[in-house]
Amino acid sequence: MEPWQDDPAPAAPDEEIPPGWLEPGAPPLILDIGCHRGSFLVDLAALRPEANILGIEKQAERVQRARGKVRRLGLTNAWALQSRGLETLRALPRGSVQAVHILFPDPWPKRKHATRRMVDTEFLEAVIGVLAPGGFLRFVTDDAPYADAVRRRAAKLPALIPDDSPGGDFPPSTFEQTFLEQQKPIHRLNWRRATV
Ligand SMILES: C[S@@+](CC[C@H](N)C(=O)[O-])C[C@H]1O[C@@H](n2cnc3c(N)ncnc32)[C@H](O)[C@@H]1O
Repeated sequence: MEPWQDDPAPAAPDEEIPPGWLEPGAPPLILDIGCHRGSFLVDLAALRPEANILGIEKQAERVQRARGKVRRLGLTNAWALQSRGLETLRALPRGSVQAVHILFPDPWPKRKHATRRMVDTEFLEAVIGVLAPGGFLRFVTDDAPYADAVRRRAAKLPALIPDDSPGGDFPPSTFEQTFLEQQKPIHRLNWRRATV
C-alpha cells in the first residue's frame, strides 16, 4: 500500500452484500461508489423502491453514518459497505448490476497525483464486467481534467457507448448540492453498456 493510502479500508468488501440481493430474480442492483455519508444513496433508494441501492465507501466513519441514515429512514433497499470501489467491482458477479453512479470522486487535481484517481482504465473495465447489457455508468465531477481523462479512456472501450439519457433524473449528492450552490461548472458523463 502506498503511504497516501492511509485509511484502514479493507481491500475487498468486509461484509456480505445483504442476503438475496444477488439471487436470480432479485431487484435491479444499483451502485453508488464513493457514497460518503449516504445522502444520495438514501434519496435514490426512496425514489427507486423497486431497486436495491448499494453504497461503497472506503472510510469507516462515513459507512456508519450512511447506515445510520438507512436505519433511521427504515429503508430495506439500501445499504453501505466499507470497501474500495475496484475491489468491490471485482467481487461482484458479471452482469449483476443495472447502474453505477460515481459522483464527485476525489479529483486529485495536482498532475503528479493523477495516478491516485479512482477511475482509470482498469476501473472502467471492471465496471463493464459487472454491468448488465444496456446498464449505465454515470460519472459526475467538478474537475474538468478528471472528466477529460475519463472521457478519453472510455472512448477506447467499445463496450461503453456514450448516452446522454442515463435513465432518468437523479437527486443531487451532497457534493453536487454544494457545487450547484456555488454555481461551479459540473461535468456529467454517461454511458450505456453495449448489449453485445
Ligand atoms: C469527494 S467525496 C464525494 C462523495 C459523494 N459521492 C458526493 O457526491 O457527495 C468522495 C468519496 O469517495 C470516497 N472514496 C475515495 N476513494 C474511494 C475508493 N477507492 N473506494 C470507495 N470510496 C472511495 C471518499 O472517502 C469520499 O467519501
